[in-house]
Order: sequence, then C-alpha cells, then structure tokens
Amino acid sequence: MRLILLGPPGVGKGTQASAIVKKYNIPHISTGDIFRANIKEGTELGMKAKEYMDKGLLVPDELVVSIVKDRLSKDDCKDGFLLDGFPRTIEQAEALDEELKNMGIKLDKVVNIYADKEILIERAIGRRICKKCGTAYHIKFNPPKVENVCDIDGGELFQRDDDNRETVSTRIEVYEKQTEPLIEYYKEKGIILDVDGTKPIEEVFETIVKGLE
Ligand code: AP5
Ligand code: MG
Repeated sequence: MRLILLGPPGVGKGTQASAIVKKYNIPHISTGDIFRANIKEGTELGMKAKEYMDKGLLVPDELVVSIVKDRLSKDDCKDGFLLDGFPRTIEQAEALDEELKNMGIKLDKVVNIYADKEILIERAIGRRICKKCGTAYHIKFNPPKVENVCDIDGGELFQRDDDNRETVSTRIEVYEKQTEPLIEYYKEKGIILDVDGTKPIEEVFETIVKGLE
C-alpha cells in the first residue's frame, strides 16, 4: 500500500498514521518528525528547518524533496509506505511523481482528512507528546491515564514549540495557500479519499480502512 496523508495542522494525520502503518505493516514517513529528530540532534538540516518551523512556515522544497527521495530508496519502502505531511506544495507533488515514475511505482490513495479551523486550533494547542515514544495525546480529547505521563512507556509528555495559538494560525493559513491546491491535483488523478476528521479517532480510522479496501 502506497499512501499519502493530506490534511491541515492538527487534523489527526499523525494519530491516524500510527494505526494505518500498524495495520498495513508499512513505514511511516513524516517529514515533520524527520525535521524534529534533526533539531534534537543539532544537525545542520535541523538548524535550517527550525528557522521556518518556529514561524509556522514551510521548509524550502529543495530541502524536503531530497530527504524524501532518499527515504523512499530504502529497502523497507519496497512494498509500500505512508507519507505524512509530504507533499505540501505542487512543486513537491511533481517531484514525488517524477521519483515514483523513476522507481516504476504508483500511489494507491491520497487520504485527505478535513476539519474546521476552530477544531484544528483546539486540537493542536491541547496536544501533548511522549518524549520517549512520540505518542500524541490530547488534554481533553485523548488524555493519558495519568496527567503528563505516557500510558505506553511512562515517558514525560511535552508540548511542541509550534503548538501555540499564533503559530498554529499561521500554519493553517500556510496550509490553505500552499497545500490545499493539492486536493484538486490528486482529485484529477482520481486517487483522493475524503475523510471527515471531526469524528472520534476510531471512527476516522474505520472510514479510512473502508476507503482503502
Ligand atoms: P508537521 O509535523 O507535519 O505538522 P502539521 O502538518 O502542522 O500537522 P500536525 O503534526 O500538527 O498535526 P497532525 O495532523 O499530525 O495531528 P495529530 O494526529 O498529532 O509539520 C511541522 C512543520 O514542519 C511544518 O509547519 C513545516 O515547517 C515543516 N514541514 C513538515 N513537512 C514539510 C514539507 N513537506 N514541506 C515543508 N515543510 C514541512 O493530532 C493533533 C491532536 O489532536 C492530538 O492531540 C490528537 O490526540 C488529537 N486528535 C487527533 N485526532 C483526533 C480526533 N479524531 N478527535 C479528537 N482529537 C483528535
Ligand atoms: Mg503530525
């Protein structure tokens, strides 16, 4: 299964990605996670990406595209993959198309999760993430059993630097301008699966699985 998860900030891409990759046994490729790992390690790429991420802006295409091309060439992507948060511009989508053509493979579906702006802001601001395993919780919609402690490994929870109201609003605006046109791009290719992201987590997942069958 070769999939893209498309959708605005906070809509639930990462949450659904965790369940999808488990079900289909494919690697989860999140460009946001790759950048955050680089920031943590203090790499040059991380330092460059941080400048844009802290402002809620997109990291330049040339930086993102080469990372994804490199990742797709790895052995574990041979039988499928899930791209989460890539592509985010028409240029990135075209670069991906060309790379997939070179590899002789095609996308199966682009899962487009949608929700209203107010919901997105509330979800992003209330998100807390485990420092150890990266599992995302929500203080209201998906709280851990013990406040600030991960259910899975007892790790401490933290809030992403870009999950404040101001940066989230910028990220949503950037999404509307630069990423939303991709919906039409993939609609024309006939591979879009629209999913209502306002439903509870399990229900959204069931809708995705049904749409992929
Ligand atoms: P990235 O990390 O991809 O962030 P994003 O797209 O803004 O999306 P989020 O991760 O914030 O949200 P999500 O949809 O994964 O939601 P989640 O499942 O966690 O990118 C960050 C930055 O990196 C970008 O701003 C950019 O600078 C850079 N970048 C990354 N990729 C790039 C690219 N291709 N090109 C250029 N720059 C790039 O859920 C959110 C919260 O809601 C959680 O608390 C969760 O528990 C809760 N929740 C989830 N689903 C539900 C539900 N159904 N009901 C109730 N609560 C729910
Ligand atoms: Mg995410």
